Amino acid sequence: MKAGELRPLFTPEEIQRRVREIAADVDALYGDEPLVVVCVLKGGFMFFSDLVRHLRGRQVEVDFVRLSSYGQGTSSSGHIAFTKDVEISLQDKHVLVVEDLVDSGLSMQFLLSTLAQRGAKSLRLAILLDKHERRRVEVRADFIGFHLQGGFIVGYGIDCAERYRNLPGIYELVAE
Ligand code: PRP
Repeated sequence: MKAGELRPLFTPEEIQRRVREIAADVDALYGDEPLVVVCVLKGGFMFFSDLVRHLRGRQVEVDFVRLSSYGQGTSSSGHIAFTKDVEISLQDKHVLVVEDLVDSGLSMQFLLSTLAQRGAKSLRLAILLDKHERRRVEVRADFIGFHLQGGFIVGYGIDCAERYRNLPGIYELVAE
């Protein structure tokens, strides 16, 4: 894809403020109970690392999953699988999945239904961006950073052909 114009959507300061608010809500909900925070790679890495550094719970563990879709080469093909599963036990612990964005919802439908079979005490979802335009299955997130209708979003972990993940703000990539 050729380079396009980056139109600012959320500044680094706006994102950090919202992440701190979500972290406070997470702390208030779980307190010091055992909690596994699961990062969905790659896009979730920046939201995840900012979120967990604000958590004050004394029994927080972190782990990572990576998903891939098969068939049409996009997640909208609906054929989703782990390329990396969690490594620590979720049994009898609270689990919070942290994801950058929900678009069609198919990735989260797969992940949450799979993790629901691991004996966790509870399973919740934190997403930074809830993008509604292409939703195909209902996904109920417990913590939501921002709502968006559509657009090609990059930055703060989110890529276009692996570029722009490093940007501290969130942008819409508009073709020139
Ligand atoms: C993106 C994003 C979500 C998923 C959302 O990941 O990070 O995981 O797509 O799409 P969906 O709701 O339509 O399933 P991507 O597959 O681009 O991988 P990445 O996180 O490694 O960039």
